[in-house]
Amino acid sequence: MRACKVFILGTALLLLTHPAALLAEDSGEPTARRLINALGCKGCHKLEGDGGSLAPDLDQIGSRMSRDQIRQHLAAHAQENPKGFMPSYNTTSQEELTLISDFLYNLQ
Ligand code: HEC
Repeated sequence: MRACKVFILGTALLLLTHPAALLAEDSGEPTARRLINALGCKGCHKLEGDGGSLAPDLDQIGSRMSRDQIRQHLAAHAQENPKGFMPSYNTTSQEELTLISDFLYNLQ
């Protein structure tokens, strides 16, 4: 019983301190969708019919941009395109950026 509690506590602590451990567990797509919602992408972009119209639709982004271009765009947009108003997601973790760009790239 005690060992069980220690295990649960340890797992909770691991997830709190290493959210990437959570990401490694799933297939990527649900997390990518959650991140896209949480990071507010749809405030400006439309995805699957849902979202804003300030920026290009993301539905077929994979046929216009490579995975790396998408990733670069997310991580350093403000530096590359200072006049654009899309924020740089440069505080988002590498794992999360990879999940988002993989997911978007597969929308072709
Ligand atoms: C405040 C509005 C805003 C938010 C929030 C935003 N974007 Fe953008 N995004 C833009 C605008 C405007 C453009 C097009 C012009 C440019 O590149 O500056 C763009 C361009 C892009 C492009 C390139 C599209 C193309 O056809 O060239 C991608 C990919 C992209 N955004 C993904 C995202 C993702 C993913 C998020 C969330 C993590 C996000 N954006 C959040 C405004 C936004």
